Amino acid sequence: MAFLADALARIKPSATIAVTDKARALKAAGRDVIGLGAGEPDFDTPANIKAAGIKAIETGKAAKYTAVDGIPELKAAISAKFKRENGLDYKPSQIIIGTGGKQVLFNALMATINPGDEVIIPAPYWVSYPDMVLLAGGTPVVVEGAMQNGYRITPEQLEAAITPRTKWLILNSPSNPTGAGYAIEHMRALTQVLMRHPQVWVLADDIYEHLVFDDFRFVTPAQVEPGLKSRTLTMNGVSKAYAMTGWRIGYGAGPEELIRAMAKLQSQSTSNPCSISQYAALAALQGPQDYIAESRAVFQRRRDLVVAGLSACPGIDCPVPQGAFYVYPSIAALIGKTSAGGTQIVHDEAFATALLNETGVAVVFGAAFGLSPHFRISYATSDAVLADACARIRAFCEGLR
Ligand SMILES: Cc1ncc(COP(=O)(O)O)c(C=O)c1O
Repeated sequence: MAFLADALARIKPSATIAVTDKARALKAAGRDVIGLGAGEPDFDTPANIKAAGIKAIETGKAAKYTAVDGIPELKAAISAKFKRENGLDYKPSQIIIGTGGKQVLFNALMATINPGDEVIIPAPYWVSYPDMVLLAGGTPVVVEGAMQNGYRITPEQLEAAITPRTKWLILNSPSNPTGAGYAIEHMRALTQVLMRHPQVWVLADDIYEHLVFDDFRFVTPAQVEPGLKSRTLTMNGVSKAYAMTGWRIGYGAGPEELIRAMAKLQSQSTSNPCSISQYAALAALQGPQDYIAESRAVFQRRRDLVVAGLSACPGIDCPVPQGAFYVYPSIAALIGKTSAGGTQIVHDEAFATALLNETGVAVVFGAAFGLSPHFRISYATSDAVLADACARIRAFCEGLR
């Protein structure tokens, strides 16, 4: 009898966490390493949010279990957030709070997928989507969003991917790993397709909602097409918007039946998300929102710095993202070359490995996100570090033969 569960053999560890761990280990061993793998803001959590967490500890409010799906005050604040920012009406009974957006997604997929159910995942995708679907016993159906189309899938591609077994479409805008966003006309083209297929549910991963640049306007599917709201889970969280990745608070809103099923699952796994963090998230949503505009301005400046730096590297083609804090350049022109250190760049993983070994810059290779040959840089780090990284990448590219 096998000791480990068969389900585990279907999945792999997160490639982004693996790169981050490797960079950390090399650094600890004394190497001069620049880690551009981690997907989290480099800022500290704003002071008013931290203070709310401390107060929750000191006043004893954080001492006990809370309701499995979150404290009523936070649910009310989330309901108000959806109304204020997205024009969406969700009652507290249609909201669940989890340990990060990641748990909300996990719960939704585990609570709904039966063997053979298909989940459409546009590529390049966030690394966890396909593995969560596989763990739940479903079948990921990957649809490629080409670089030439701004990394977006087209309505024709969506139509062609839908079958009677399609249960979910996962949409992530702005996207990890590309930073690409679906503007209203692109979103509407997809929601029109979805309206023709009532069996398909929509999982809208809006975690990067507030990190949008230039004149890009964020929209979410249930807002663009109210007819889809009864089969949409709108997921969001405080991790990226308020520099709170470590606090682990995410939330989802959708039909009560789905939310109840997700809460049932959560009641038999983690129970409530951390009580301290829930009070901190409450302060984030109810307090001053200045931090969002400030961080957005910083990230936009860094995006411009990185896009310019990478565009100066021979063989790298770097589109300009609309949001998030990632760039996802193509290295198609570098495949087949050999690095100064003697590594043949046979694919993007070889590129990332040689880059780390020869220059100390840690990036994540595109195959991990389902679209090659590319790599992802997270530019959530200081301007000086980014300038240094771009200079090293340029020297590396110039040394390729
Ligand atoms: C696209 C996307 N969705 C969801 C998450 C989950 O974030 P969290 O669990 O911190 O809320 C992440 C985090 O990296 C992400 O990039």
